[in-house]
Amino acid sequence: MLSKTLPKHIAIIMDGNGRWAKSRGLPRLEGHRRGVEVAEEMITAVHNRRIPYLTLYAFSDENWNRPKEEVDTLMVLLELFLKSKQQKMIDKGIRFQTIGAISKLPENVQQTIAETKEMTAKGNQMTLILALSYGARNEIMNAITRLVRETPSLLEPVLSEVEGGEGWGEGTLNQFLDTKNYPDPDLLIRTSGEYRLSNFLLWQLAYTELYFTKTMWPDFSESDLQKALEEYAKRERRFGKISEQL
Ligand code: FPP
Repeated sequence: MLSKTLPKHIAIIMDGNGRWAKSRGLPRLEGHRRGVEVAEEMITAVHNRRIPYLTLYAFSDENWNRPKEEVDTLMVLLELFLKSKQQKMIDKGIRFQTIGAISKLPENVQQTIAETKEMTAKGNQMTLILALSYGARNEIMNAITRLVRETPSLLEPVLSEVEGGEGWGEGTLNQFLDTKNYPDPDLLIRTSGEYRLSNFLLWQLAYTELYFTKTMWPDFSESDLQKALEEYAKRERRFGKISEQL
């Protein structure tokens, strides 16, 4: 049986801004500027299709290692994006959320993030999640640390399950991840011809359909999104079962 339905949650690794700019003899900043425009176009396209969750990998843990000038530019673009789109998000019923180590971001960006979350909290058409200063291993380590610290009484059933007993399930760890309030992505898109997950949502992508395209993010368009959705619709999601069981 083919899954003809749309995904409920799309996650995107928006890659290739730098190479796109370089191939045109432009500064990397131009690639990122165009990248933000494409992000906005995709948010609209996903919203128009009534897909309820979109997660965009906007800034990774490792991106802090880029030259300071580029990091600063990305922070400025992020802040400008949020400030200039707040009203549009409210009008369209888009709830803004983040995952990642937000406390590492500059103070002004943190404030704008908090303000945008608050202003859009009632949005019930779509949840837009930006991954910022995000790394999946870090997220999982933090989740385990907090789980142990905050709920030591949960440890007994954990140990009991590890030893073959009843108790604790994956859902318990889920509750401590940054993504606890969202369903796992159904479809992951990565642009720019790189075939890696790059420390993105490692736990949550366990059963996600992966879609890779050589298109650089600044060239990604609604028709590329449509192609990914058509490919997704053809995939058979078996979650470990056989076709006849679905
Ligand atoms: C990858 O290109 C992209 C990033 C490092 C993140 C930047 C993302 C955007 C500008 C979109 C931001 C969206 C919002 C909504 C603020 P790259 O620089 O890694 O490209 P390269 O691999 O070709 O160097």
